[in-house]
Amino acid sequence: MKPENLLIESADPGIRIVKIARPKALNALNTQTLQELKEVLSAEAANPETRVLVLTGDGEKAFIAGADIAEMKDMSTSQGVQFAQLGHEVTKLLELMPKPTIAAVNGYALGGGTELAISCDFIVASDKAVFGQPEVALGIIPGFGATLRLSKFVGLPRAKELIFSGRKLKADEAKALGLVNHVYPVAEFHEKALGLAREIALQSHSAVAKAKDLLNEFSESTGLNFKLDAEAQAFGRLFGSPDQREGMSAFVEKRKAAFQGLARG
Ligand code: COA
Repeated sequence: MKPENLLIESADPGIRIVKIARPKALNALNTQTLQELKEVLSAEAANPETRVLVLTGDGEKAFIAGADIAEMKDMSTSQGVQFAQLGHEVTKLLELMPKPTIAAVNGYALGGGTELAISCDFIVASDKAVFGQPEVALGIIPGFGATLRLSKFVGLPRAKELIFSGRKLKADEAKALGLVNHVYPVAEFHEKALGLAREIALQSHSAVAKAKDLLNEFSESTGLNFKLDAEAQAFGRLFGSPDQREGMSAFVEKRKAAFQGLARG
């Protein structure tokens, strides 16, 4: 069935562009969009015509503004676990498919947006891109793999700082930290990202696939499923907590969250 929240484009032979297109929610990932991504990425993983996959957001404002907060607001623990597990299926497809995946981050990449980007092999960004893991401001933790993958890009202390503070990073800062390989002015961004994809698509597909497999294997992805499952369980257990209810209600009601237990003076 044709996806409702994705656009699939073929730029050059061998290059497939998957665009998240849910403009009303700044491309936020609801269950339907994650299901569509799972189907499309599974098909592309097996498609011999696709040599390089580029993941991007439709429009100029957002890559993905995170998991859908309105949908998550009333989730139970088991629904939270299932939601994280679906996110993990998508991120594993990006990380493990036997062909390069490039995140072309064109705007907000928050929460699940940064998490899908760091599941790709590398990230290129427009100078309008904004990254971050703001989950703690919602009373939850990252649930689509950042507790495992962010430190591979930026190192453990920086991953801790970013996840504990929820601070947003502009493209240049993200590049300085090693999160992003290249930052391009927005006017040239799509062409530059495609240029990189073309360069890779011209190489031996089987050699590139083998290199990806080994680079993943050697960069300590042992225990991937066990670690992601631990994250999904911890993510789910926060659902129904006072801070999760307050954090997400505050976002939906467009006000600041007032978390428990913090004496303000
Ligand atoms: N989930 C659900 N809806 C979202 C969303 C998300 N993660 N991010 C944005 N939206 C929706 C907003 O609710 C708003 O909908 P409305 O027009 O029906 O009110 C619409 O997208 C536009 O967002 P808005 O906040 O008005 O745009 P902005 O330019 O003022 O701010 C952001 C942009 C990205 C800074 C802000 O939307 C934001 O902080 N989003 C949440 C980011 C986040 O915490 N992600 C992690 C989730 S785990």
